[in-house]
Amino acid sequence: MMLAYSAVSFPLSTWRSAVFLVAIIGFVLALKGLSSPRHARPGNLLGAAAALLAVGMTFSAGTVNHSARNLGLAFGAMALGTAVAVPAARLVKMTAMPQMVAIFNGVGGGAAALISVTELLHIHSTGVSPATYVVVEALLGVLIGCVSFAGSAISFAKLQELMATRPIVYPAQQPINALVGAGIVALFVTAVVTGSVDYAFGVLGLSLILGAVFTLPIGGADVPVLISLLNAFTGLAVAASGFTLGNPLLIVAGTLVGASGTLLTRLMSKAMGRSLPNILFSAFGAVVTATGTAEGLEGKSVKSSTPEDVGVLLAYARKVAIIPGYGLAVAQAQHVVKELADELASRGVDVFYAIHPVAGRMPGHMNVLLAEANVPYDELKEMDEANPEMPTTDVALVVGANDTVNPAAVDTPGSPIYGMPIIHADQAEHIVFLKRSMRPGFAGIDNALLFDDKTVMLFGDAKDTLQKLVAAVKAA
Ligand code: TAP
Repeated sequence: MMLAYSAVSFPLSTWRSAVFLVAIIGFVLALKGLSSPRHARPGNLLGAAAALLAVGMTFSAGTVNHSARNLGLAFGAMALGTAVAVPAARLVKMTAMPQMVAIFNGVGGGAAALISVTELLHIHSTGVSPATYVVVEALLGVLIGCVSFAGSAISFAKLQELMATRPIVYPAQQPINALVGAGIVALFVTAVVTGSVDYAFGVLGLSLILGAVFTLPIGGADVPVLISLLNAFTGLAVAASGFTLGNPLLIVAGTLVGASGTLLTRLMSKAMGRSLPNILFSAFGAVVTATGTAEGLEGKSVKSSTPEDVGVLLAYARKVAIIPGYGLAVAQAQHVVKELADELASRGVDVFYAIHPVAGRMPGHMNVLLAEANVPYDELKEMDEANPEMPTTDVALVVGANDTVNPAAVDTPGSPIYGMPIIHADQAEHIVFLKRSMRPGFAGIDNALLFDDKTVMLFGDAKDTLQKLVAAVKAA
């Protein structure tokens, strides 16, 4: 029997659903790629390609039925966004990346809130009373999007040092925040019951206030955790807009962002050994307890060394662990640290980088910096892989890290960082700290390891010191 094939033509909605499905699969695979430094770059490109496909389909002929004026406005906004975002992303310094993420996230939250506002105004203009769930979806979009927008804006201002980075605290702060939250709930319920758009604008105003006041007591270095949480909020706001617009792509993409932001927030809190409520509500870092002097702890003094002496120590070591921290990013010393590692490796020294999950000020901060300097991935050891190596390591070279190697996290109950897993630099035979002064790290507490008998200090900017170390190793 012969089978007859005929050209089948699918309606546009089927094509659109199929393209959106491909984009959704692209987003999922992109997230998978982003979970490892090796696949992060292709993952990122795949995500961008999937987004382009989705936007292309949205604007393709027959899919939208808006006026030419509205389309012109949409394309104008896209051109403006591209003109601002491309140079900003290309020129941003690595140390300024957290605030860049904050502002991008805020824009996403704000956009989701605006979609919901437009929908509410549309409902109002038709004069027809909508189903309750439609109003609830739109109001959720307004609420979550505005909290995310305002919180991200304050986070950006803190990280960019446009305002005080320390936690800003005032009397009855949490009760006042709770009152704002209660006001939002009351207006939300009234808006749903009465269908009045005026109450919806009340929700909008109070949500903006909540986003701002909620962020004020969070210290500069805890802000990346907040940004991750706000990112999850933005995802939920986008998903709410997806329900409002009946767009499954937005629902799935928003849910993916919401879920990944929540997981990242959890992972960061865990790696810092602190609960999320502690990060959000304890004004961590408001009190600095460190003495910040070279005769800090129990009358002990730190020992200073010279690049020449440390160069010899490194050149004749068998195994060296480089432990990078926030100071590496500040000094922009990633290229010269690689130069040192390469020089040592060429002399037969076994060198690896021990990476703490919250070293620096944003997730993956050290991985990104070292990848920029083309450090091979197999030289990067995550904390769990690096720690078993530490007892057989001759020299732990701590480059601008502090809290992430502070033994108080393990042996001082009551310390603000007690419970945080650390890189066990203390188990190496020799420890060398590269930092500029005796100033503490983010947690604002002393580090007994600086005063350890096995420790020497090389004071100075990490980049300068590393350059001197490269020269010293070559001369050794
Ligand atoms: P920190 O404990 O913050 O210590 C950084 C050290 O770098 C400081 O002691 C500073 O000492 C030194 N430093 C700064 N600029 C330098 C330069 N130009 N040259 C040499 N040294 C320099 O860093 P860490 O060990 O990476 O720990 C990160 C902290 O941030 C943790 O407490 C973590 O919980 C917190 N945190 C991280 C994240 C993420 S996701 N990474 C998010 C929130 C909070 P001097 O001033 O004396 O030079």
